[in-house]
Amino acid sequence: MTPAAVLCGIGSCLPARRVGNDELAGVLDTSDEWIRSRTGIGGRHWADPDTATSDLAVGAGRRALASCAPEDRPGVDAVVVATTTPDRSCPATAPLVAARLGLGPVAAYDVAAVCTGFVYALASASGLIAAGIAERVLVIGADTFSSILDPADRTTSVIFGDGAGAVVLRAGHPDEPGALGAFDLGSDGDGYDLITVRGGGSEQHLSAAAPEPGRAYFTMDGKAVFRHAVERMSRSSRTVLDRAGWELSGLDWMVGHQANRRILDRLADDLGVPRERSVGNIAEVGNTSAASIPLALDDARGAGLLKPGDRVLLTAFGGGLTWGSATLTWPGPDRFVS
Ligand code: COA
Repeated sequence: MTPAAVLCGIGSCLPARRVGNDELAGVLDTSDEWIRSRTGIGGRHWADPDTATSDLAVGAGRRALASCAPEDRPGVDAVVVATTTPDRSCPATAPLVAARLGLGPVAAYDVAAVCTGFVYALASASGLIAAGIAERVLVIGADTFSSILDPADRTTSVIFGDGAGAVVLRAGHPDEPGALGAFDLGSDGDGYDLITVRGGGSEQHLSAAAPEPGRAYFTMDGKAVFRHAVERMSRSSRTVLDRAGWELSGLDWMVGHQANRRILDRLADDLGVPRERSVGNIAEVGNTSAASIPLALDDARGAGLLKPGDRVLLTAFGGGLTWGSATLTWPGPDRFVS
């Protein structure tokens, strides 16, 4: 039997500083009313300049490892960090996170798929487990988008927040609660420019000769992204449910990428999933990119929403363009100690 990846630990970490809509309305031409009604966001957390993505990733990873039941606690064999805002463009952030968590000389690498990053990282970690390369993998989604936002751009500054979420996966049985089931992953590079940071890579060097800081900022075509997000997550959700042999009507929860409450509502309506079954925390944290799904899952767990054996659909969309979905049954009650 090919081993399945089974969720056995979860944790999250937010920077202390909360930035409310009114604070942004004090510096940008926007309002609490506009932000809430167009995005569903009431506030977000932004890291201070001394806090890097690895700090949030280590915080979430430590909590996820501590949440594992004693029998699931032996060390992990690999660390996968999904991020668009690594501490440095070279090397990857994951080896630093593994070292700071005291995990020893384990495999450690980053995955770059913007807001879809966590689902891509889950798929990669499941592959390591299915191939027998790893028994336990720590998967972290962590982003510090505040570090790449243009402070003068009201269309992006109001949307993004910082944070990290992590899960521990172990080798197990495909039928046991906690098992990840089917995956669907995809991309469309024709939408490469819709969500992007143009400067700082090999295409446009940020050099002393061309120091315009604007080129290092994140930009997004919000309207086009909105439309793609609904279409791609809807199609990917149907595909993954089909692969898992699950009916939409048998879903207990949908955890979609927390991009915009209106996107999530439109997606739920399109799939015929009751909106109250689409869980999330966008009102409190905004769009935290790769951290969005594990943060939302951890919040839903903390709120006691997820019951053992519940059928959960994860679906995400992001820059690239990329999208991805996965099915998960929620683990048994004895799996987490904290
Ligand atoms: N405050 C006030 N007004 C704003 C604003 C803000 N923060 N941002 C934009 N506006 C203005 C626009 O300038 C525009 O004004 P105009 O009509 O005078 O030109 C008006 O509001 C409507 O702008 P529009 O872009 O049509 O708004 P929208 O309803 O599409 O909402 C987004 C904008 C960005 C919230 C929305 O498109 C969105 O959420 N897109 C997806 C973003 C996303 O999820 N990205 C990550 C995906 S992984």
